[in-house]
Amino acid sequence: MASTRREFLNRVITAGTAVLAAYFVYPVLRFLSPPAVALGQVGRVLVTTTSEMKLNSAKFFKFLDRPAVLVRLPDGSYKSLSAKCTHMGCTVQFESSKDFFLCECHGSEFNMNGDVLRGPASLPLQEYLVSVSGDKIYVSVGNQVA
Ligand code: FES
Repeated sequence: MASTRREFLNRVITAGTAVLAAYFVYPVLRFLSPPAVALGQVGRVLVTTTSEMKLNSAKFFKFLDRPAVLVRLPDGSYKSLSAKCTHMGCTVQFESSKDFFLCECHGSEFNMNGDVLRGPASLPLQEYLVSVSGDKIYVSVGNQVA
């Protein structure tokens, strides 16, 4: 009987250790893994249309195999940022009521320009180029302009 109890406790401890290890290892692996698509291989992507973007709203999309976000700022202009937290790679969330991005993994906060408001992240979110052609909104990496 004692052996059964000991085996049960060993299984619980082993499973708990495995879950805890995965919790810490997964973000590190995501941070270290190279992107599936190299920067520069994709010119630009059509994200949405101007009529779909209300003031102070955000639209998340996938760009270069990574999460990205297009934001319409209160002044009507657009900004696009990587939504991948620069700390350990979790996806940030947009807090429209407070005008900032929050990473729920470890609490980093970024303003609408992608600058760090609160760590542990120390680097800003990568900014992408936004271009509007007619009512279509495109996002690109570099110097490509619509
Ligand atoms: S991954 Fe740690 S704060 Fe975002």
